[in-house]
Amino acid sequence: MSNRTPLLAGNWKMYKTTPEAVETAQRLVELVADSAGVDIMIAPVFTALDPVSRVVRNSRVALGAQNLYWEKEGAYTGEISADMLVSAGCQYVIIGHSERRQYFGETDETVNKKISAAITANLIPVFCIGETESERESGNTFSVLDKQVKDGLEGKVVDDLGSLVIAYEPVWAIGTGKTATSDQAQEAHKYIRSLIEGLFGTTLAESVRILYGGSVKPANVSELMAMPDIDGALVGGASLDADSFSKIVKFK
Ligand code: PGA
Repeated sequence: MSNRTPLLAGNWKMYKTTPEAVETAQRLVELVADSAGVDIMIAPVFTALDPVSRVVRNSRVALGAQNLYWEKEGAYTGEISADMLVSAGCQYVIIGHSERRQYFGETDETVNKKISAAITANLIPVFCIGETESERESGNTFSVLDKQVKDGLEGKVVDDLGSLVIAYEPVWAIGTGKTATSDQAQEAHKYIRSLIEGLFGTTLAESVRILYGGSVKPANVSELMAMPDIDGALVGGASLDADSFSKIVKFK
């Protein structure tokens, strides 16, 4: 049995105005008040972070952002730094989500800089990786994961990565209703853990939390969480509703 604490994380993407985000967060805080033994995080849009931080303070729910920029400050119109996220109440930040890679030009190199910025600011990075459907069909899943992990973490040393969270999100399973089978997910998670072991050693490989993401729902979360290398979930659609996300949090 691993002693990794499961992390159930909700990625709210570009949904919810501030009043809507506050209301959902309030309801979630009530619903999960009695869930021990798991970490819970929600990542609303930037404009809702500060108001939602007031709702979740002293609750079971932690706050995360969906992105950051790696510079500390400067003339970077439209960007937000790690320290700014911390000052808005964040403990986590999602980095390199496939939608950011697909629509906003993020690369393994920019992801690498963002992970460093998060670590420097004591934010927990949730580092997203995953193959596309054509990469899987052409038999390249492992080589894609290999490159994303190596390039994303290049230059880091094991002492930097104590808080690192990895999210394996096959692109073909995000928002599509097609979940990876628990065996497919386990196979990828085991491979990712072996990559971490090769790069940073056994201790980090055994402690790093690897989340699965891609159409996680109350109905499939338990089966996924039963897999030995799946340590939690990064949930999009099913995290937008407090009742459904609380069922995912209470997967046991
Ligand atoms: P989904 O999104 O749960 O809606 O598939 C997951 C994600 O993009 O993190």
